[in-house]
Amino acid sequence: MNILRKRFLAHVAQTSPEPMMVEVERAEGAFFYTPEGKRYYDLVAGVSVSNVGHANPAVVRAVQEQAARYMHVMVYGEMVERPQVEYATRIAALLPGAIDSVYFVNSGAEAVEGALKLAKRYTGRTEMISMRRAYHGSTHGAMSMMGAPEGEEWKGAFRPLLPDVQAIEFNDFASLERITRRTACVLAEPVQGEAGVRPPAPGYLEALRRRCDEVGALLLFDEIQTGMGRTGAMFASLKYGVEPDIVCLAKAFGGGMPLGAFAARHEIMATLQRDPVLGHITTFGGHPVCCAAGLAALDYLVEHRIVEQVERKGVLYEELLRDHPAVVGIRRSGLLLAVELGASERLFRMMALFKEEGILSDWFLYCDTAFRISPPLTISEEEVRDSAAIVRRCLDRL
Ligand SMILES: Cc1ncc(COP(=O)(O)O)c(C=O)c1O
Repeated sequence: MNILRKRFLAHVAQTSPEPMMVEVERAEGAFFYTPEGKRYYDLVAGVSVSNVGHANPAVVRAVQEQAARYMHVMVYGEMVERPQVEYATRIAALLPGAIDSVYFVNSGAEAVEGALKLAKRYTGRTEMISMRRAYHGSTHGAMSMMGAPEGEEWKGAFRPLLPDVQAIEFNDFASLERITRRTACVLAEPVQGEAGVRPPAPGYLEALRRRCDEVGALLLFDEIQTGMGRTGAMFASLKYGVEPDIVCLAKAFGGGMPLGAFAARHEIMATLQRDPVLGHITTFGGHPVCCAAGLAALDYLVEHRIVEQVERKGVLYEELLRDHPAVVGIRRSGLLLAVELGASERLFRMMALFKEEGILSDWFLYCDTAFRISPPLTISEEEVRDSAAIVRRCLDRL
């Protein structure tokens, strides 16, 4: 084992007993490379982060220029900083409906924390409803919203968590009745990611919206994984035509830099300013270098019409893989795919084969029988065909 790996094991905290231990030398487009020169197709994209590809020159330039101009100046929300203002203005124009106020934070979990606090503050209610097999982040509040009982295996050891939280089954119309006048908010991923890619049933998000309106609860969409083009529209809420009251963003929102946000109508957002003031504060939220990177990535998506190509590439993966006898089924929204193998032993064997053959994939928190395909959205059709051929080779060897 080389010295870097030894030091990694000794001094960098690990999240599992058997880390992958693949060393990254550099990354470009849909690939990353090890110091030995081995090339990997990145079919995870940092878990739906690198939507515009690794080392995208437009993003690199924006980061370098902003870093040289100024980095951190003063805690978020007081100073006028051009990268924040320009990015918030662009995002507000693209977000559904009347959402026009963007609160920048550092991560997805923090975006969820802010959104939950905002919903409680605005409605004056305390009950919060989440979906079974939801994932919203790893802090106490976000973790509280991992829908039990399925979320229990992840969060049980950390109780007590937030009180007054309930979970309903995603796509189950009957359980919408559990949303009542006590409910401050319902938090949902429009397409459930870590559940193993579960798109909404026809009419479900509309029914959820209607029920929230009936009882005066706020509807919160976690678009942290589905946002910035992943499902074939800039936001999944636009794809499915349902407007939330608050939307949470992160991952690809920072163009590869750490950045998140929760966004709402100005009238809702303004409740964080008073009684008391400083309802949510964050030192680094909206870091100017991260905002510059996110804005450059957004510009790249729009100028190169990347989002318009997402559905075609997603369909192509599906066509190239679905007839393989080892594939039990494929669930998909845009370029977010779960390829179902039917058994976790097969999935873990597949992961080992992927590592040998130069593919980075992953399983899902609530689904260890399917592997993930969520490459940079900029992957070319030729690269889709080539990576699918390697995946098929691994499936042959299963
Ligand atoms: C849907 C969803 N929400 C929230 C998060 C948490 O984001 P972060 O890891 O930036 O806290 C994730 C991360 O995987 C996610 O997929």
